[in-house]
Amino acid sequence: MEYKLIDVVSNSSSETKKIGFNFAQLLNKNDYVAINGDLGSGKTVLLSGIVDYFITDAIVTSPTYSILNYYSNDKNTIYHIDAYRLSSYEDLLSCGVSDCDEGIFLIEWAENISDFFLKKNYYEIDLSYVSKNKRKIVIKKIKNEQ
Ligand SMILES: Nc1ncnc2c1ncn2[C@@H]1O[C@H](COP(=O)(O)OP(=O)(O)OP(=O)(O)O)[C@@H](O)[C@H]1O
Ligand SMILES: [Mg+2]
Repeated sequence: MEYKLIDVVSNSSSETKKIGFNFAQLLNKNDYVAINGDLGSGKTVLLSGIVDYFITDAIVTSPTYSILNYYSNDKNTIYHIDAYRLSSYEDLLSCGVSDCDEGIFLIEWAENISDFFLKKNYYEIDLSYVSKNKRKIVIKKIKNEQ
């Protein structure tokens, strides 16, 4: 089952960040957020808004080379995975994801590891380029578990 939660056009990167911040209020520990969209569509910008809701002043950078990054304080841990260079669940496991403690998982290029999401409930965010400063953003909740 899919439930569409948000379908908007953002007019700036700060608006995209704010959309991420507001969406973050729905999230709980052990939730997964699959973030898809072309290069430069704003995945990291939106993700930085989500992180900002939980961890003020975190510096969010794209972990393209490290694949797995995390931000934490005494209440929350947010994992940031960039699956750009991955192609399966198995690849993800080899990055040490099964050693992660409880937290919220934000995954850029999630479509590259779609087998990871097959039996999960998760949120899916799709960003697409409209024009230089505009991005279409669709957020859905996907339920695969009974
Ligand atoms: N409405 C908008 N929302 C988000 N980003 C925007 C918007 N308008 C312009 N931008 C610009 O687009 C770029 C988005 O970069 P970002 O790193 O978030 O993309 P990405 O999808 O994470 O790319 P990658 O696939 O390389 O990880 C930034 O330079 C940002 O300033
Ligand atoms: Mg990015």
